[in-house]
Amino acid sequence: MTRTILVTGGCGFIGANFVRLIRESRPDWRVINVDKLTYAGNLNNLVGINEGERYRFVREDICDTQAMRRLFSEEPIDTVAHFAAESHVDRSIAGPDAFIQTNIFGTFSLLEAAKNAWLDKPGPGNAPCFLHVSTDEVYGSLGTSGYFTETTAYSPRSPYSASKASSDHLVSAYFHTYGLPARITNCSNNYGPYQFPEKLIPLIFNNALHGKPLPVYGDGQNVRDWLYVEDHCRAILLVIEQGENGERYNIGGHNEKTNVEVVTTVCDLLDVKRGLLPGRRRRRELITFVRDRLGHDRRYAIDPTKIRERLGWRPQLDFAGGIEATIDWYLANTAWVNKVADGSYQKYYAEMYGRAIA
Ligand code: NAD
Ligand code: DAU
Repeated sequence: MTRTILVTGGCGFIGANFVRLIRESRPDWRVINVDKLTYAGNLNNLVGINEGERYRFVREDICDTQAMRRLFSEEPIDTVAHFAAESHVDRSIAGPDAFIQTNIFGTFSLLEAAKNAWLDKPGPGNAPCFLHVSTDEVYGSLGTSGYFTETTAYSPRSPYSASKASSDHLVSAYFHTYGLPARITNCSNNYGPYQFPEKLIPLIFNNALHGKPLPVYGDGQNVRDWLYVEDHCRAILLVIEQGENGERYNIGGHNEKTNVEVVTTVCDLLDVKRGLLPGRRRRRELITFVRDRLGHDRRYAIDPTKIRERLGWRPQLDFAGGIEATIDWYLANTAWVNKVADGSYQKYYAEMYGRAIA
């Protein structure tokens, strides 16, 4: 094996897409997937990937520093791709505790384990690399113009983005203070296969498919910069292989859309692919404006010049191509959506591991 990569949160949305990318494109890498299997972690996201020389699943909490240290001593880990996090802004507003714990303390715990394995003892054969996956939300909210660059000042405004900003600062501190070989990526909104249906696009897909109301917060004019998840994963792989320690890379594809535009696009695609609702109603008629999210950031937009010019990364899909591929995937995988929505995916864990998820 040329690399042994520890992927944290590999049973979540982006982590699972990343594990699949490694499996398809790096046949000589061993993947250790550590995931606590919170409500957002789903072993069904990795069906077809079996335990063996190239893959090991470990159910642990990244906040358990002893367990993380043990993993580094059991496996010759030379690379970390750190995805594990509490990731949903609405949940962070309703209950910030888990965000502070996992996103801040969990990242600290991993940094300590990596420092102990790579710097406090003779290092692994390969030059090690700690890639911290972060978000554009750390930069705050934009007005109608301008873009986030790598030098934009941090200005997080939700408990989620504040916890991610704290973790970014810790990663940066471990690079500058101890020389831990670390890099950070800050990406815009992802969409695509295996996204938990509490996030805008899969939630709207599921409700629109079944003719239910489509909740749009506030006036629906908030702007997000959408990136197909596989393009994000390819960017992370590139930063691991060709990026520089101590650097951060913004990732985004210039696909800014208002929430109303996104929701109507999903509705119209479903009307074409599944036919109109009874009474020849268009699905966009289901849009229901609801109370706004507290502290709702108005606009995010990424300037991806650095990763394009230094590493040659470009997204392969624009929003039109990505959203159609996404809707096709969800239509072909309604069983996956239903299992996630009713919690029965957790039974899969019980069948595989002989005990229930705690
Ligand atoms: P997700 O919520 O779908 O998945 C998170 C995964 O982490 C789950 O499998 C969960 O079980 C696991 N996890 C949570 N707490 C854990 C803990 N204490 N120990 C071990 N595992 C734990 O998240 P996602 O949308 O795939 O996001 C992944 C990462 O990418 C996050 O760090 C997020 O901040 C970042 N990010 C997400 C987006 C996006 O649009 N979704 C955009 C930019 C950056
Ligand atoms: O920008 C990157 C971030 O994108 C990631 O760091 C987060 O982990 C990820 O969850 C996402 O955050 P958002 O808050 O932008 O995503 P969400 O899908 O929750 O919402 C997208 C937009 O849609 C946002 O403006 C809120 C709005 N929205 C969301 C939901 C769930 C609605 O109008 N109605 C809804 O029901």
